[in-house]
Amino acid sequence: MPESASGAAPLIELDGASQVFHVKGKDLPAVSDVSLSVGEGEVLCLVGESGSGKTTTARLAAGLAAPSSGAVRFEGRDLAEMSRAERREYRRAVQYIHQDPYASLNPIRSVRSTLSIPLRRHGLARSGAEVEERVDDLLRTVDLTPPESYREKFPHQLSGGQRQRVSVARGLTLSPRLLIADESTSMLDVSIRVSLLNMLTRLRTEEGVGFIYITHDLALAKYFAWEGRTAVMYLGKIVEVGPTPQVINHPQHPYTRALLDAVPEPDPELARQKKAGGGLLSADIPSLSDLPSGCTFHPRCPLAEDRCSQTVPLLSRAPAAPEQEVACMVVTDPRPAAPAGAAGAGGASP
Ligand SMILES: Nc1ncnc2c1ncn2[C@@H]1O[C@H](COP(=O)(O)OP(=O)(O)OP(=O)(O)O)[C@@H](O)[C@H]1O
Ligand SMILES: [Mg+2]
Repeated sequence: MPESASGAAPLIELDGASQVFHVKGKDLPAVSDVSLSVGEGEVLCLVGESGSGKTTTARLAAGLAAPSSGAVRFEGRDLAEMSRAERREYRRAVQYIHQDPYASLNPIRSVRSTLSIPLRRHGLARSGAEVEERVDDLLRTVDLTPPESYREKFPHQLSGGQRQRVSVARGLTLSPRLLIADESTSMLDVSIRVSLLNMLTRLRTEEGVGFIYITHDLALAKYFAWEGRTAVMYLGKIVEVGPTPQVINHPQHPYTRALLDAVPEPDPELARQKKAGGGLLSADIPSLSDLPSGCTFHPRCPLAEDRCSQTVPLLSRAPAAPEQEVACMVVTDPRPAAPAGAAGAGGASP
């Protein structure tokens, strides 16, 4: 089990966790053999295309679903073996902020009741006055001010951005130690998004809250997880993970490179260079129920070689970037250069 610098077990750890859904007689491996850990005050950003398994991974970490195989541990304790009291503490300490506040907020509950119910249930505010005070504090924390303008509102009376902030406030009600934020700022306009991310960063740096932050937007990964790590997911697997600056500035996996190339480039000269750098061979994402053999990325990969359709690559250190782990044989185990006269055989090198 990986341990933090202090020797303590990480707050949350996924150890070879998989989640297989069964749909119409077919197995859908939404998450396959994912290992990750997040300690106190750390941030891990999960990025990847739609359907890559980010939310399913987050739900495993939040205990909202049990893994089909592998383990999920909170402070070293396997969720599957927790006592009732341990589970209660875990439920308080790990909060999931849902991707879609339209779906996650109860339409018949006012903001006050959404925020006060968890406070009362966990005995964190006893008197009515204490609850009121805490609710107002939470609303101020997420910039819903003055609180009296929002307390009595119902979800349908709020804008998308305001609902998202209520969703974040609800995630904070129980003073969590790990927040799993699933695209939770996606409906916010830029200035509010930045103020919310700054608030979440303060929770991390001043109170040691750990974060799993999920986004499609690599610009947000850069902003929020620059001091942390970024894991790139593709079809249910982590294909690259490392310190965010390295992953963004020196991407090793061809999929990470393609994701970064897809970020719009305002400078026409740089945009032209990016295009010339070689993109994906196909825009189509294979189906989870019919995954390609070997490396599941190989049909789209500009670097694919024969071996890529035969062998499943494991995460390993990238020789050119030792702080990163990459699931790509072409990158981590480059073939020796072809002997003179044998040009044309084999594939491209990275
Ligand atoms: N309950 C479920 N039953 C069947 N399949 C599911 C279920 N939940 C997710 N899936 C499938 O698992 C895969 C991963 O879904 P997931 O929601 O984790 O992706 P995601 O990376 O969060 O995508 P997005 O960026 O669109 O939110 C998808 O193919 C999805 O259709
Ligand atoms: Mg999702």
